[in-house]
Amino acid sequence: ALAALRGHQRRALLLRRMVAAEPPSPSSSPRQGRTKEERRKGVGSAKSVAETAPEGVFGPPTLVAAEPRLLEDVIAGGPPPAAEALQPDYLRRAARLKDELASAVVLGIETSCDDTAVAVLRGDGTVLGQDVASQHELHEEWGGVVPSIAFEAHKANIRTTQENALADAGLTMADVDAVAVTVGPGLEICLRVGTEFAKELCAEHGTPFMAVHHLEAHCLMARLGLADEAPAFPFLALLVSGGHCQMLLVRGLGRYSIIGGTIDDALGEAYDKVARMLGLPATNGGGPALERAARAGDKTKYPLPVPMQQRPDCDFSYAGLKTSVRNAIGKLRRQLGEEFADPEVPLPEQVVNDLSASFQDSAIKHLEQRLRRALKRLAASGGEEDQIKQIVLAGGVAANQELRARMEALCEKHELELLVPDPRLCTDNGVMVAWAAIERLETGQICLPDDQQVQARVPMGTALELES
Ligand code: KG4
Ligand code: ZN
Repeated sequence: ALAALRGHQRRALLLRRMVAAEPPSPSSSPRQGRTKEERRKGVGSAKSVAETAPEGVFGPPTLVAAEPRLLEDVIAGGPPPAAEALQPDYLRRAARLKDELASAVVLGIETSCDDTAVAVLRGDGTVLGQDVASQHELHEEWGGVVPSIAFEAHKANIRTTQENALADAGLTMADVDAVAVTVGPGLEICLRVGTEFAKELCAEHGTPFMAVHHLEAHCLMARLGLADEAPAFPFLALLVSGGHCQMLLVRGLGRYSIIGGTIDDALGEAYDKVARMLGLPATNGGGPALERAARAGDKTKYPLPVPMQQRPDCDFSYAGLKTSVRNAIGKLRRQLGEEFADPEVPLPEQVVNDLSASFQDSAIKHLEQRLRRALKRLAASGGEEDQIKQIVLAGGVAANQELRARMEALCEKHELELLVPDPRLCTDNGVMVAWAAIERLETGQICLPDDQQVQARVPMGTALELES
């Protein structure tokens, strides 16, 4: 049984890497920039997304299994599957949704990885209630997320988590106007638990259904409930989590251009692995403990190389830095003498702190370098539609205070605004799922449950080649 689980664990890590290293899709999407005139008028700003987003049906690449539909097409008996497959009041309820979105109640469900999370949001972004069943303790001893364990835990917890979130909001399913769920990317069997549960809820209560792309949800968190103040498209998003490490130009809902991605490990994954090597506890991944250790450490004591100095692109790599830490640990154990030769013997606390500080410093320097490079190239590209004013930092690692402070400083230097969600909303949660659905609903989109299935890998957009 142990060997089988270890196998699962390897597969889990492999899956994470596959998701992280998603190659850009070869299909091209039309550019959706704003003209000077539009910008002057504020077209394309947060408020006017609803007026500008849907073009044709949904021209740009869809991020879910099937393109969401314009409600009016569905009502007009538009392309199959036909509306008669739905409960009679589905369309009536969906139609009311867009008109009364600010006061509508949306339930968001997230089961793509190791957290069963459900939140209840009002259409204006107010969080009415939420609950999370975290699985970190279950996976901790395996050193990574074990899909089969995650699947069982999602199954065991989903209904209670949904009931708790509703109870937290003081509401019942009768009050819910739409159910949103992450359909990808992520661990397929886990995505399926949430998606099937959401479909069952929608079938039972005749509730409109929304399929959500996990990474779009992370990216859009910075716009939560900000109305006119929300970052306007286009903005740059730096998505750093346990499974993903990407720099994206966010041109609009569903319109992403990939500026850079990781060629091996995601940043959060590197934090987790290095934390494990240093014997740090893995509550919420290794990141928080490593950050705490780094705060008490001296980053100049054991300097580590900044990754990918030889590659003049905007991609990331964290596998080499992880190996540098492993080598440094080996060397230090030899220097510290016999007592520390056994890798099971914990290193002295100050050594752990100093190594943590060095790792974190090099990891962030790598991000800074790539970001500065991308900004320079974007500015030089002459593509007016690519000129950005804001950077959004998202994903689990965005909870890191040192990273936030350094990104803030970088943005200030470039006269850009940095937007980072509340640390609790940086890691996976139900709020981001409900909010991403609200953003889409605002543009008149609706999904039909039968159209949607889970997808372990979903490209986020097309590659944007910036000249050096
Ligand atoms: O977004 P998330 O919850 O899940 C994925 O989609 O992967 O991100 C989890 C990752 C973990 O790798 C965790 O170690 C990292 O985010 N993380 C942090 C911090 N808090 C969470 N990394 C560095 N510093 C933190 N404070
Ligand atoms: Zn995530």
